[in-house]
Amino acid sequence: MSSDSLRFPDRFLWGAATSACQIEGAWDLDGKGESIWDRFGHTPGRILNADTADIACDHYKRWQQDVDLMVELGLGAYRFSISWPRIMPNGKKPVNSLGLDFYDRLVDKLLASNIQPFPTLYHWDLPQALQETGGWTNRDVVKRFAEYAEVVAQRLSDRVRHWTTLNEPWCIAVLGHATGDHAPGYKDKQTAIVVGHNLLVAHGLACQAIRATACGPDKPQLGIALIFTPTDPASDSPKDQALAEKTWREDLSYFMDPIFRGIYPESLSKIKSHIRTGDLELIATQLDFLGLNYYSRTVLGIKGKVEVVPGSQYTEMGWEVHPVSLRKLLVKFSKDYHLPPIYITENGAAFSDQSSPDGRILDFARLNYLRDHLEQAWLAIQDGVDLRGYFAWSLLDNFEWAHGYSKRFGIVHVDFANQKRTIKESGRWYASVIKQNAVESSRFA
Ligand code: FCB
Repeated sequence: MSSDSLRFPDRFLWGAATSACQIEGAWDLDGKGESIWDRFGHTPGRILNADTADIACDHYKRWQQDVDLMVELGLGAYRFSISWPRIMPNGKKPVNSLGLDFYDRLVDKLLASNIQPFPTLYHWDLPQALQETGGWTNRDVVKRFAEYAEVVAQRLSDRVRHWTTLNEPWCIAVLGHATGDHAPGYKDKQTAIVVGHNLLVAHGLACQAIRATACGPDKPQLGIALIFTPTDPASDSPKDQALAEKTWREDLSYFMDPIFRGIYPESLSKIKSHIRTGDLELIATQLDFLGLNYYSRTVLGIKGKVEVVPGSQYTEMGWEVHPVSLRKLLVKFSKDYHLPPIYITENGAAFSDQSSPDGRILDFARLNYLRDHLEQAWLAIQDGVDLRGYFAWSLLDNFEWAHGYSKRFGIVHVDFANQKRTIKESGRWYASVIKQNAVESSRFA
């Protein structure tokens, strides 16, 4: 290791992340119920190229091989999600024990491989049966989610310590219920506001359920994964600056204020009529960690969003590569809120990969993306941020929601024709970072 390496703190946790719907496949196997993403995928016109999550990475059958890949990469932790409809096909009891068995085996093999399991209870695959009665718009879902959390904790909490309740409530509320890009495809802003509130109450009640049920040797560590896309002004003009500042403040406070301050920001005053006694206390349940997902920023002015910032690089998603925003975000949050330790629970990039004649997957744009973001994460630690770990999104190329299989985020390549896995150059590089607990300070040219 060279002297100018960026060394991470001892015990810094190096991981990779996936989610059930995006990798498992086996959408109707072993008693699994239909999810809203199964229904969405089977509805013509919803997903690019009419792709579905029916098979995805076939991880439900190939999970052992996938854990072996994690061992090869040297991961210290694996963030995956549990499929609610696999555990409760109708969203409520009875429980499908075959579904629980799958995660039970996965957790055992992870632990036997010295990889800490970091399950997320909800990464967007609501049981379709609950959608039939309104899904996240129906307050009843809150109790159902807490019951589901309890069932999972009963089975796994003797071995699982870190629990994430929800992945990105912003995406569930806004993309699922306001823009309609994600399942269940609603297009109604007011509905999205109600959904956001129900999600937060469900998060709080699930935390209580897990704490009451957990039977492991150590106290369970509870968190939530939030996505942030900071907004910067398009120019120095006071009007652009004011707009960007207002937009960013509204965006960041949407979930941060209720969770970490027990209040809703003024911009969400429409929520007031939906708040029941005790809701805000539940939502502000003490957390043990904050999961932060970061991909990109937005540049905005009074003339609208700047689609192409001169000189910037863009990923295949059309997202600007902007690593310094990650550090700014981490530092700002640590100053503005009284936060528990932070994990970066997702960070990564979609690029189309080249392969070499000898079968290597040359993805240097992804490698540089990861490297540059890790450098900013390291700088944030030097600034005093209590950052405990980093999860690359994603372990495998997978089903990227409405984009189907057209966007590859993996550090491991998946050939969807034959399910062959190949560790990409970014994955090999990440393995060396993990091994050294440090990032070389020079970039790959
Ligand atoms: C995040 C999602 C994750 C993946 C990445 C690219 O918003 O949590 O499932 O789709 O984006």
